Amino acid sequence: MVGHLLIYLDGEYLDYSEARLPVDERGLQFADGVYEVALIWDGQYIDLDRHLQRLERSAAAVELTLPFTRSEIRAVAEELLRREGPRQANLYLQVTRGVAPRDHRFPPNVVPPTVIAYLKDAHFDHDGVQNGVAAITEPDLRWLRCDIKSVALLPNVLARQHAAARGVREAILVRAGVGVTEGSATNLWLVRHGSIVTAPESNWILSGIVRGVVMELARSEMLPVAERFATQEELMQADEVFLTGTTTFVTPIVEIDGRPIGDGTPGPVTTRLQERYMERIARLASHVAD
Ligand SMILES: Cc1ncc(COP(=O)(O)O)c(C=O)c1O
Repeated sequence: MVGHLLIYLDGEYLDYSEARLPVDERGLQFADGVYEVALIWDGQYIDLDRHLQRLERSAAAVELTLPFTRSEIRAVAEELLRREGPRQANLYLQVTRGVAPRDHRFPPNVVPPTVIAYLKDAHFDHDGVQNGVAAITEPDLRWLRCDIKSVALLPNVLARQHAAARGVREAILVRAGVGVTEGSATNLWLVRHGSIVTAPESNWILSGIVRGVVMELARSEMLPVAERFATQEELMQADEVFLTGTTTFVTPIVEIDGRPIGDGTPGPVTTRLQERYMERIARLASHVAD
């Protein structure tokens, strides 16, 4: 368990109450930054390198020079884990464009980016993972660079809030003229007549780390995956629908907009991929070679 919150902030390990930022930090005023969320399972980081690689891609895409090397930030992540010692948690890592008087333009002098990292309790939703969850569809109102893991999440926040207000887990986003893209904080998959469909890597979705892993697992199980945008009609007629994400694992969706998916219970393809995924993280956590 992560008891008290230990915060890594710009080179120091601080108690939550001591970690402070000025009001003109650009993350606060412009959401000018990028982030990652990684899984700690059985006391080990899972796929941390893939997350750090994606952080580098996101930072480059917003013209932000990371103030650390991959091995330096990995050392911070390991130090947090060593000091806090949780079995199951999430690493939250955020880099924003630093402190400067408010001006849309980048600060004229080189300002050090703000780096925040801490571990957060992970809630593993046994019931949802096993029995499935409900979702709603919502228009995808995000910008045109959803491939960047930016801290600017207002459309995602609103969509997830609408889902919560309807008493369901996730909002499935449908982009006008494109099709079904992903969930507000998850990637989305459907299965129809034995074929698996998920949105292609593109500016319309975040290339999820778990999406990439599940893609590899599906291939090794000889389950073909078509990377294309499904229509909303296909979504509603699917035999199975599931979500993937670092904090969501592989979670079946059994109801969308109040209507059952398939027979309203998790389907065989979902269950198989879920088992392979859980086996993989257990194996990685126990250091057995992949
Ligand atoms: C919009 C969006 N799509 C997909 C994902 C899943 O990505 P990952 O598998 O890397 O957690 C997330 C994760 O937060 C997300 O915010």
